[in-house]
Amino acid sequence: MSEIAVQTSGLTKKFGDFVAVDQVSIDVKRGEIFGFLGANGAGKTTMIRMLCGLLKPTSGEGKVTGLDLYAESERIKQKIGYMSQKFSLYNDLTLSENIDFYGGIYGLNPTDIEFKKNQLLADLQLTPWRDKLTGTLPPGFKQGLALGTAMLHDPSIVFLDEPTSGVDPSSRRAFWDVIYQTASRGITVFVTTHFMDEAEYCHRISIMSTGKIIALDRPDNLREKYKLPTIQSVFVHLMRQASTH
Ligand SMILES: Nc1ncnc2c1ncn2[C@@H]1O[C@H](COP(=O)(O)OP(=O)(O)OP(=O)(O)O)[C@@H](O)[C@H]1O
Ligand SMILES: [Mg+2]
Repeated sequence: MSEIAVQTSGLTKKFGDFVAVDQVSIDVKRGEIFGFLGANGAGKTTMIRMLCGLLKPTSGEGKVTGLDLYAESERIKQKIGYMSQKFSLYNDLTLSENIDFYGGIYGLNPTDIEFKKNQLLADLQLTPWRDKLTGTLPPGFKQGLALGTAMLHDPSIVFLDEPTSGVDPSSRRAFWDVIYQTASRGITVFVTTHFMDEAEYCHRISIMSTGKIIALDRPDNLREKYKLPTIQSVFVHLMRQASTH
């Protein structure tokens, strides 16, 4: 299996004349937790949609699990899991029904779905909730289930677009435990967040501003480089710098 999960070179997306993602070059390793930070409108979701094979780049190169973004987007979709920013599970379906629904979308047969469902619910200690409506779950549990559901087809990489927005701090911690377990199984986690404490948990982070990557390194290296105590303060510093250029 390739040790590089994501590789892009000069990847660019324009909407008309507007450049949403501007010449982005990144490498993400297998099993890495890669934090993708940036202010609102920086281009994070657009980048993720290109990497998931959902949006065709305007120019530049890119591979996900060794597959080309232009020529092999359909194969990419089978290899990745995606938790979108706006939407995850249906609130008015039961937990069991949501898993059946997504398992079907991922092309699993009913026997496999049943097996995975039992395993997933047990792992998340949600077995007693199996036939309850998903909307009644506390947000942290719902997002944990959404992540598990996005991995029913055993993808080698998952893209999580603000998975913890609207989730309380202790549930966010629990959700990050699931992210760590996922990465320790060799699955790459590509995650966007506006929470700077979560950025500290990532192996590496990139910081994006108006479509460009303006910093990319391990959190400790970034703190050291800018001589600032937290990623929060590094982020604020870089955003101020970017707005004055
Ligand atoms: N389909 C589209 N057509 C035109 N402009 C778009 C389209 N999708 C995104 N944009 C614009 O591209 C820019 C980047 O948007 P994107 O959603 O990628 O940002 P983001 O970093 O995910 O922001 P947020 O943190 O708010 O989710 C924004 O200015 C947005 O309005
Ligand atoms: Mg977004």
